[in-house]
Amino acid sequence: METIYFDNAATTKIKTEVLNEMMPYLSMEYGNASSLYSIGRRAKRAIENARKQVATLLNCNSNEIYFTASGSESDNMAIKGFAYDNRDKGNHIITSKIEHPAVLETCKNLEKQGFEVSFINVDENRKNKFRGIKKGDKTNNYFNKCYVCK
Ligand SMILES: Cc1ncc(COP(=O)(O)O)c(C=O)c1O
Repeated sequence: METIYFDNAATTKIKTEVLNEMMPYLSMEYGNASSLYSIGRRAKRAIENARKQVATLLNCNSNEIYFTASGSESDNMAIKGFAYDNRDKGNHIITSKIEHPAVLETCKNLEKQGFEVSFINVDENRKNKFRGIKKGDKTNNYFNKCYVCK
């Protein structure tokens, strides 16, 4: 029986090109990039090279690229980083009730830190999460976390 995998939003098969590019670092060049000896320094160089390549693709500076170990870590870092960095501009975060727990728990944690968080309901199709919210509501202080539902 043929198996068809439908959960690519959760995790996905690595692309062959990516696997081929990664193979040396998974098999031979597996040094810890923070270590001082040569295998570590080579790993560090490879990471910095990858950072530059991603930055070029995204047309930004390489010091703006952060590699994380997981989606949850990325959510946490992006939401908290943005919220703290822009606190002087606004204290109100809007998200929906059906976001991934990594988003919801991060927002709940920010609520404890004094941010105001609105957890918006969704309609029966899990759509139109932000219907009814207009620019200018609540003095424009939104950090809009607009994930498309999985
Ligand atoms: C929005 C979002 N955040 C976090 C995760 C979890 O990722 P990880 O298991 O890599 O922490 C997922 C995975 O489905 C996700 O879709």
